[in-house]
Amino acid sequence: MVEAVGAGVTLKTVPDTQALAQAAADLICAAVRANPDLSILVATGNTPMPTYTELAQRVQHGEIDFSRVTAVQLDEYLGLTDDDPRSLWSWMQRSFVAPLGITRTVRLHTPEEFDREVAALGGIDLALLGLGPNGHLGFNEPPSPPDAPTRTVTLTPESLESNRVYWDGLPVPTGAVTAGMNLILSARQTLLLVSGAHKRAILRRTLEGPQTPDLPASLLRGTALTVLADEAAWA
Ligand code: PGA
Repeated sequence: MVEAVGAGVTLKTVPDTQALAQAAADLICAAVRANPDLSILVATGNTPMPTYTELAQRVQHGEIDFSRVTAVQLDEYLGLTDDDPRSLWSWMQRSFVAPLGITRTVRLHTPEEFDREVAALGGIDLALLGLGPNGHLGFNEPPSPPDAPTRTVTLTPESLESNRVYWDGLPVPTGAVTAGMNLILSARQTLLLVSGAHKRAILRRTLEGPQTPDLPASLLRGTALTVLADEAAWA
């Protein structure tokens, strides 16, 4: 089902996580077909993983070619070595870059270098984002105004808690670096993936509550935003 929710925003609901992966992969593949040199800002987290698996299968079957796409890292913890299992860079490599045959990447080390590299690409064509339980985008924690730059941040207790499930008992680093709200909001197209009943309240507020730095995802309204949600997240 497709609903328009105000300026620029399209909300599409699908029955379950598998249908979400299919619908998201359809949109991403259409964008890559329209522009094989697409630059994609790539979220990690649990929500997009079935989508990345679906994309990898389409690549394997020769249905789509990502070899000219540039994958841009969205966020990273601070203070980890390259071989640390919690590195978000390695998670992006495992789940997106390698299985899709992508050779062009922008890694998020230092904000200045990252912003320079993204500017040299001509900006972000497609931002693939998940929705934080506290409304964060990347690690733009509340409050993050629309002009918040790429920067280092301290994670909120909510993000530390929600990230714990990824790392099987290892502590979640408390510092991070994130692509700025300014960069995320300047993407030519944004796809926000939302799955599960635990996201229902924050998704309502994101789409229907006040647009405020206290809920960074609400600032996506007014950009070219497509929200794909399963029925658990948008009943
Ligand atoms: P999730 O994380 O996809 O694992 O729910 C989303 C986020 O925290 O941004």
